[in-house]
Amino acid sequence: MIELAPSILSADFARLGEQVRAACEGGAAVIHVDIMDGHFVPNLTIGPPVVKSLRRATELPLDCHLMIENPDEFIPVFADAGADWISVHQEAVRHLNRTLHLIKSHDCQAGVVVNPATPVETLSEVLDIVDYVLVMSVNPGFGAQKFIPSTLHKMRRLAEIRGQRGLSYRIEVDGGVALETVADVVRAGAEILVAGNAVFGSGNPKKNAEALLKAAMEAALLKV
Ligand code: DX5
Ligand code: ZN
Repeated sequence: MIELAPSILSADFARLGEQVRAACEGGAAVIHVDIMDGHFVPNLTIGPPVVKSLRRATELPLDCHLMIENPDEFIPVFADAGADWISVHQEAVRHLNRTLHLIKSHDCQAGVVVNPATPVETLSEVLDIVDYVLVMSVNPGFGAQKFIPSTLHKMRRLAEIRGQRGLSYRIEVDGGVALETVADVVRAGAEILVAGNAVFGSGNPKKNAEALLKAAMEAALLKV
């Protein structure tokens, strides 16, 4: 099943609730929240108070993508603030198994993220404990960057491994997903599509979300 996860990074933060509702009307299944600490990535974004406000503004699950160092320190805080899904970067975590179990112990879905330069093989030992794997298709830190096509093979590989090992994690993609790239990521096996600029960058978020979802569904139908 294809799901759209609009990333609020490109939204108008002064009208966040309204923008999230518009994306929801456009068919969003989950709201993607980019948490950056200025250390793991060269940018700063939002923290727990905004997640708490979002929790009151929408009933959709909140997908918190932690681009931070020492995520263990903040997982309980984000879970308390209302995160439903929490993902951590393979590159940022020293004890990945422990961290993923920590996320689960807070009743959140646990995800692991790989940067464009990180092979999916580094996840081999945790694929049976994650609920989703997020493949970064840009280097994390900013919205509206150019999609990196060489990341597509990782989505294909994750789908292949899942079949071979009888696992059930979902495959999420993040970065540069837009009308021009959405068919490629869906054909490669991505199921949860994060899109920031393509939904909130310009125009009407509801219409943008609808158009993106329609293009994704069409690609999914042609896939089988
Ligand atoms: C990038 C973030 C993304 C970002 C995607 O570091 O993780 O979620 O918002 O934005 P677009 O869709 O504009 O590439
Ligand atoms: Zn993200």
